[in-house]
Amino acid sequence: MTNWLSNAVVYEIYPQSFYDTNGDGIGDLRGVIEKLDYIEACGFNVIWLNPINESAFLDAGYDVTDFYKVASRYGTNEDYRELCEKAHARGMRVLFDLVAGHTSVHHPWFIASAKAEKNEYSNRYIWTEGAFDYGAGISGYAERDGNYINNFFWHQPSLNYGYAHPDPACPWQLPVDHPDCRATLEELKRIIGFWMDYGTDGFRVDMAASLIKGDTDGSYMQALWKEVKEYIHAKNPECLLIAEWGFPRNAIKAHFDLDFLLHSGQSAYTSLFRHEKGRNTTRLFVGDSYFHTDGKGDLDEYLKVFLRDSEEIRGRGYIGHITGNHDIPRLAHGRSVPEIKCAMTFLFTMPGVPFVYYGDEIGMDFIEGLPTKEGGYIRTGSRTPMQWGAGKNHGFSESDIPYLPTDDRVDAPTVAAQEGDKDSLLSFVKTLIKLHRETPALWADAPLRVIHAGYPFVFERTDGEKTIVVAINPSAREYDIPLEDAHPLLAQNAKVKGNTLYMGGVSLFVGERK
Ligand code: NOJ
Repeated sequence: MTNWLSNAVVYEIYPQSFYDTNGDGIGDLRGVIEKLDYIEACGFNVIWLNPINESAFLDAGYDVTDFYKVASRYGTNEDYRELCEKAHARGMRVLFDLVAGHTSVHHPWFIASAKAEKNEYSNRYIWTEGAFDYGAGISGYAERDGNYINNFFWHQPSLNYGYAHPDPACPWQLPVDHPDCRATLEELKRIIGFWMDYGTDGFRVDMAASLIKGDTDGSYMQALWKEVKEYIHAKNPECLLIAEWGFPRNAIKAHFDLDFLLHSGQSAYTSLFRHEKGRNTTRLFVGDSYFHTDGKGDLDEYLKVFLRDSEEIRGRGYIGHITGNHDIPRLAHGRSVPEIKCAMTFLFTMPGVPFVYYGDEIGMDFIEGLPTKEGGYIRTGSRTPMQWGAGKNHGFSESDIPYLPTDDRVDAPTVAAQEGDKDSLLSFVKTLIKLHRETPALWADAPLRVIHAGYPFVFERTDGEKTIVVAINPSAREYDIPLEDAHPLLAQNAKVKGNTLYMGGVSLFVGERK
């Protein structure tokens, strides 16, 4: 499989915190349009926007109230069209965040569904038969005598795509081919087609595995997404599907083009960067991160899953590697710039598609102790406004009441301060992205050969023509490793001495085989 994901470098934008052009304190689509120069200059060729639909904003947009409308705080549907057009004119693509599995309780469909009288939307959501069906769903919400099943927070009721194996003792569990469940799926396709017509190049599907309930072997979800994919491809074969699933081999089997290794579900990704307390959202996985100066972590957990899944999905899909996202503390938290550079080097040289969360390219920090905003809780600290420069709200907004406060420390990183500094993180990330995009041996599907899976991590990538060797030492220890015939492209605290590579503490080396 070759598609545009193979050399994609994706920039995730949390729209409310990116750039505010109308002074209301909230970022907007016009702000993204105005910052396209910056995004392009960094080297990103794909933009993923967190949800932009009209919403009750109790989960920052993942609680949609109108799937066919851009939230007025972000602008208009026409602004979105313009953003897609302007991005396309620069050879960039746009990913739309599709909340496929649930809505807000304030969505008109849910309001109708919650009514005691039967109506067109009664089965659009999953309702048990009585308010005292203990253990099933959220009870006592509506006039309707029943509990609704929710997907995430209490106010995010699950849309009804049916049950894989309805329990005969629970007649409210409808089969997937029930006309009302089919109607939900048809509506989903309508939503997808609607945003494709605006120029969307792909969809990042929120909680993509959540649609059909009780699908133990995944076969029902595979059939559902196959149908959706066929619908998409009939309209535009270049439009892709990206899953928030967290288990790439399952997601790719379900016809997605890419899935992430994430902070939840399994600990492969977490073991790299987020094992310590305060570096993850869930408290399920605790241990030593590989990317830590104490050098106590290992790569076993990550490589076991990554190599197995890569092998299984080869030729059919990709794994996304994230610097972070809107759900987890930022990569920079508790890390020095040289440490972040090591992590970035890993993300841009390993197989798979790199995703950079806005602000990570300048090392924006996770802000501790912020009061929760729009259902953010601990995640709020990673959702603060983009730090463009000095001055009011770091150049994010003219408002006295910004969406969230910006990082108020004197040394808070900014784009303006880093742009002219050749040693800055931003300059380094730009160099890495350029190298990545100009070197097919570093693209998503070029083969990987692991040379040493420990400290340092040493590996090779090749496209048959060029071979790149990478060595990364996130620990504070020093190493001498054998290295022959490599011409340095990038280095930090590392030196080639004859046939040896000296690697100081927190060092990296990227070279081309002669
Ligand atoms: C995953 C999203 O990334 C997260 O931000 C959201 O709260 C949940 N899905 C629920 O939609």
